[in-house]
Amino acid sequence: MSKYTHDNNYIYYEDTNIPRNKLNIRNLQKLEEEEQKLLLKGYEHFHKNLAENTIFDENYFKELHEKTFNKLYDFAGEYRSVNISKGYSTFCQVRFLEKTSNNIFKKLENDNYLKDYAEKSKEEFAEKIAFYMCELIALHPFLELNGRITRLFFDMIATYNGYEYIDYQGTLKQNDEDNLFIQASIDCMSGNENQMFQIIINGLKKAK
Ligand SMILES: Nc1ncnc2c1ncn2[C@@H]1O[C@H](COP(=O)(O)OP(=O)(O)OP(=O)(O)O)[C@@H](O)[C@H]1O
Ligand SMILES: [Mg+2]
Repeated sequence: MSKYTHDNNYIYYEDTNIPRNKLNIRNLQKLEEEEQKLLLKGYEHFHKNLAENTIFDENYFKELHEKTFNKLYDFAGEYRSVNISKGYSTFCQVRFLEKTSNNIFKKLENDNYLKDYAEKSKEEFAEKIAFYMCELIALHPFLELNGRITRLFFDMIATYNGYEYIDYQGTLKQNDEDNLFIQASIDCMSGNENQMFQIIINGLKKAK
């Protein structure tokens, strides 16, 4: 059984919301700074390595998490083995995680991993991204950093199709109530992708 099962004290330092980390950073601000540094490096690495034959499959998705955060977290690249929720939302139950993930990525494969949107309309592309974004948000497969890795994933797909990174334009505010991305994510949980579509379409711009 994984060491990340059941015991929250294994995941977070006792009585905190600070995940145990390899650098033993126990100050939230410091940890966020470190995460931000690693995320930027992750963006650079995966952007540099984008190629015609890149496949945006489950392995790639896990690799984004693994390569980006391996320096900091033991759970980098690993799907969680505890059930988690945020606010009133409960994400995919652990016992369905693997199967649900397979189904999502199977669908994505049938859509050729969204690799054919350079010539199609922005609306069609935004609809597809919103659909899969919502699916991956409801899956919430990692213990932490789901939002950032999911956005990184679609930023690479956007780049592949000749777009800039998606501009979330202040939808990612610090407090949850003003955070339109979280509000859109809550809607995703009940299968309503409209708000997410709006965020994505507003944020998609062709690269020059
Ligand atoms: N109440 C909620 N209901 C549904 N989804 C939520 C809720 N709160 C947050 N989320 C989703 O979970 C993501 C945050 O998950 P997690 O903390 O694992 O990722 P993160 O990268 O650390 O956070 P963030 O996306 O805020 O940078 C958000 O981006 C959003 O998509
Ligand atoms: Mg988080």
